[in-house]
Amino acid sequence: LSPPLKDAQGRTMTYLRLSVTDRCNFRCTYCSPASWGGKKDLLSPEEFERIVSVFAAMGIRRVRLTGGEPLIRPDILEVARRIAAVPGIGHVAITTNASHLARLAGPLREAGVSQLNISLDTLSEATFRRISKQGDLASVLAGIDAAAAAGYASLKLNVVVMRGVNDDEVPQLIAHAHARGMTPRFIELMPFGQGTPVPTAELVEKLRAGGLPLVEDEGPQGLAAGPARYWRAPGGLVGFISPLTQNFCGGCNRVRVASNGDLRSCLGGRAQAPLHALIRGGATDEELALAIRQALGDKPEGHRFTEPGAAAALLPMMGIGG
Ligand code: GTP
Ligand code: 5AD
Ligand code: SF4
Repeated sequence: LSPPLKDAQGRTMTYLRLSVTDRCNFRCTYCSPASWGGKKDLLSPEEFERIVSVFAAMGIRRVRLTGGEPLIRPDILEVARRIAAVPGIGHVAITTNASHLARLAGPLREAGVSQLNISLDTLSEATFRRISKQGDLASVLAGIDAAAAAGYASLKLNVVVMRGVNDDEVPQLIAHAHARGMTPRFIELMPFGQGTPVPTAELVEKLRAGGLPLVEDEGPQGLAAGPARYWRAPGGLVGFISPLTQNFCGGCNRVRVASNGDLRSCLGGRAQAPLHALIRGGATDEELALAIRQALGDKPEGHRFTEPGAAAALLPMMGIGG
């Protein structure tokens, strides 16, 4: 199935994001339409294992499970265990809202997950309600503490920054993360839902004006190919993900499988090879690999989030997984 997966721009894909469900127990304003129902026809643990094996044979080394909220799948431990055991897969990571981590942080670690990225946009009950609509902040904070105690190799807190909503909480969120050995990351809001983004440069300027010394840093070893850029503060690293003001598409190493099994070569692009349908139709590994290669040949140069009308062309984040 080799050689490695390259796109038309010559970028090599080594990182697969798998959305394992499009359901979520929250309804965050920037991610999900209020009316989101979710689909029943998700891939099985065996089907994920098969897809990951085909990708691994083409050079994918790192897999991140996303959602919706991946931990609401009853079989998430089996999904993680099977993927972690695929030859060639060095790292299995999960992006989660933490609401189920108090129970699952330990078992997921044992299943072979080594890295967690946890969404936490606020430490205020009222703001949490406003953003998540139906989340419970106490369970999220308990989940974060359970993760901190479970021996993960890497723990990051993702904060989507929205003007007038949570942009005044940046110092408190940095302190919350650093006190638990986690790396906070502040994300420019992409146009998948409601809210106004805040440019990274403005946040950095405000932190410095508030007395926090920040020095540019290479970031955590081995993760340099990701979209985040890191700064060093006295308490630890602080990351910024800036799709709007510091486009990182030129270095993209990512490919996605959405929760319905469709391959998406770009977060801001359209659905491509229907991998689930191909599997159900009896496709061989070689046929799957060919479909993946053809889709990657069409990978867009990058997103168009800053163009007028970009939002209308996008599917909800919910089914793609970020
Ligand atoms: P690491 O591998 O730990 O660096 O994680 P990550 O930042 O790639 O993944 P995570 O799921 O934590 O996502 C953090 C933010 O980055 C979310 O807002 C994602 O939507 C965004 N993101 C991740 N990958 C991409 C990408 O390829 N393009 C764009 N535009 N945004 C991305
Ligand atoms: N813009 C930026 N980040 C987003 N996320 C969800 N929706 C958006 C958006 N519109 C983040 C979540 C989670 C990750 C998967 O994507 O907060 O951390
Ligand atoms: Fe890659 Fe598309 Fe993300 Fe740009 S927007 S980094 S091309 S997935």
